Amino acid sequence: MGRDLRCPKCGDLFEVVYPGWKTSAGMRVAGLDAVTLKALWSERRTSRATLDQSGVWRFREILPDLGDGHHAITLFEGNTPLHTLPLCARVAGVWNLFAKHQGMNPTGSFKDTGMTVAASFARRDGFRWVACASTGNTSASMAAYAARGGMHSLVLIPEGKVSWSKLAQALDYGALTCQLRTDFDGCMRVLNEVVQRMPVYLLNSVNPYRLEGQKTAAIELLEQFGWRAPDHILVPGGNMGNSSALGKAFLEMKEIGLISALPKISIIQAEGANPLVRTLRETGGKELVAVEAHTMATAIRIGHPASWKKAVRMLAATGGTTEQVSDVEIALAKAEIGADGIGCEPASAVTLAGLKKLVKQGFVKENETVVLVLTGHLLKDPEFTLRFHRGDLFAGTELEGEAGKTKGRQRGPIVLDASADAVVKALEQAEKA
Ligand code: F0G
Repeated sequence: MGRDLRCPKCGDLFEVVYPGWKTSAGMRVAGLDAVTLKALWSERRTSRATLDQSGVWRFREILPDLGDGHHAITLFEGNTPLHTLPLCARVAGVWNLFAKHQGMNPTGSFKDTGMTVAASFARRDGFRWVACASTGNTSASMAAYAARGGMHSLVLIPEGKVSWSKLAQALDYGALTCQLRTDFDGCMRVLNEVVQRMPVYLLNSVNPYRLEGQKTAAIELLEQFGWRAPDHILVPGGNMGNSSALGKAFLEMKEIGLISALPKISIIQAEGANPLVRTLRETGGKELVAVEAHTMATAIRIGHPASWKKAVRMLAATGGTTEQVSDVEIALAKAEIGADGIGCEPASAVTLAGLKKLVKQGFVKENETVVLVLTGHLLKDPEFTLRFHRGDLFAGTELEGEAGKTKGRQRGPIVLDASADAVVKALEQAEKA
């Protein structure tokens, strides 16, 4: 039988328990205070030890205890850059805008930071098979870590609704890849049944170890900001594991004394895959309003998010909000991020599109510091990008009319005769435009 991650009495997911963790005044993690932790983590940046070179395991004091670490499976995840976004800042109407680029992880998405932890525990516990349902990135990440750790992996993805570049990753890393004739939520339902019947370890984001690993992005960000939290963090919402993990990290950092104020963490969803937005607007966060999800940002095409309750609690605790954006707004924002020299996948671009709205509403002030969490790499969905720049992304869809406003950002390839004259003419025209 697979590992059941839920409490048989209340049905809630198990939380990870830490050795040495105290929640009373004078916070200490495994016997260490904030000053010591900062020094220790900083020192490890120049270490040559394998675990220290991982941007996740470097922070192992806030991770579940893996003993001496010999079961750890690492691809040197984390250590992702924090970029400024000057052009996007102007477009959105804020002075200080940054991107924490989680797409620069080894398999091209933030999933690796959680996967290194959860896969390591699966290996420690002797599992031969690990499994997930995915919109693409989780499967790519899981397949890589399983392969690296000598385990087999089973991937369930919705047929025709996952970008082929992510599918290609899972195949190359040797996953048993099943394309089911359903959507992500359907894949999740099937997987939940499979883990009850077969000895496979569930590696979806409901896995508590994954959330623990994903916390490290927040710590790394704080370190990059000199241990002062930004005012706002905007993150895409799909299954809502990532937003919950980031919120948990900041709350813990505050408790430990690493920061004195929390950032407001806001979750942005695609208009057609907006269960959290609707849940908050229609039930005040009390009951999930599930939807049948439709969006070209396939990574977040999720209508029945597993971690919605955690996300609602996280928004309340940090004072964040939620907003929705259309696929046209996503495509435009993605090209604007691109124009700052930073590539990301469509799901990541919801953050900039959402920021524009939150600035207009006055929720984000122009002098506040904002960080967008870019969750995936540009090359995760090259077809979306190519079709956008060629101008046919929205052709034949109901968004065709609205798509006009993205024209100024489109840079389709130009086919020319092989002559210097033709190229010089193209240059002159571009100069005038
Ligand atoms: N951005 C990207 C690029 C993603 O792949 C995902 C989720 C999200 C944002 C949303 O994160 O689910 O933690 O709220 N992708 C999952 C997958 C569902 O299967 O790869 P979340």
